[in-house]
Amino acid sequence: MIQVAVCGIGRTGSEVIRAILQNERFSLAAAFCRPGSEKAGKDIGTLLHTIPIGIVAQDISQAEQAFAETEIDVVIDFSNPTCAKPLLRACKKHRVPVVFCTTGYTEADLIWMSDFVVHNNLGVVYAPNVTLGVNVLLAALKLVARALPEFDYLITETHHNQKKDIPSGTAKKIASAIQKELPRDAAVPIHSVRIGGYVGVHTVLLASDCERLSLTHESFNRSAFASGALTAAAFILGKTGWYDMEDVLGIAERLENAANVV
Ligand SMILES: NC(=O)c1ccc[n+]([C@@H]2O[C@H](COP(=O)([O-])OP(=O)(O)OC[C@H]3O[C@@H](n4cnc5c(N)ncnc54)[C@H](OP(=O)(O)O)[C@@H]3O)[C@@H](O)[C@H]2O)c1
Repeated sequence: MIQVAVCGIGRTGSEVIRAILQNERFSLAAAFCRPGSEKAGKDIGTLLHTIPIGIVAQDISQAEQAFAETEIDVVIDFSNPTCAKPLLRACKKHRVPVVFCTTGYTEADLIWMSDFVVHNNLGVVYAPNVTLGVNVLLAALKLVARALPEFDYLITETHHNQKKDIPSGTAKKIASAIQKELPRDAAVPIHSVRIGGYVGVHTVLLASDCERLSLTHESFNRSAFASGALTAAAFILGKTGWYDMEDVLGIAERLENAANVV
């Protein structure tokens, strides 16, 4: 069984924990919460409104101690950008790979993280969107932008009203994927909508003077995130280096197979 520590016991981290508890391939080894969080010391089962499971939430500042005392094969992180440094330092000491699903890192954060990972021979999957659909959308958009460089592009992302980062990490990634293929410097605009309980919708609208095309991805619930994160966790075991979900999901192979069928 793969022993997983989950960092961040919020909406998505809780869904990942539920998925681990229901999956015979994975076992929950530890769960970390924010420093000073009222969740620290509480049983994870109780926090998830089910029966106690004998594992209590630990403050992330105790990660090094937890790593020393518990067998942990991999960490899945759905928390906050401030968590990356303490987590990576603990992972370095105990040679544990990480799947970073948190969004909102600055460019400087990402440079520090990837340098630290490569320099210390660690294994990381950096996944600002873990779903299969978004990653196929990203690959498809590269082709669309190459084929329709003269069209105008606009991204609209809609999320629940508690989401902190605006625009979403996925919208930024989509914008950058399109931008790289267009023969002009202007950034692809992103409209962000925060309303109600939306899990996540990303729409790319492109239009010329006389026609339009739109592509939409929607996550119906957070189990899509949990499933992608567990796939990435299994992928990174025994590897070193900095990977993304394209590597995990074998997007290049999927596209090659699709092209061969045509
Ligand atoms: N990659 C993807 O596909 C994907 C999908 C969904 C979400 N996300 C990202 O994942 C992150 C979490 O999303 P969410 O919807 O689950 O948010 P959320 O419900 O606000 O949960 C965030 C959790 O992180 C905890 N936390 C904050 N700072 C921390 C720290 N320094 N160390 C440990 N835990 C810390 C918070 O603890 P308290 O509860 O104690 O405050 C909270 O439980 C966001 O960045 C979001 O954009 C990514």
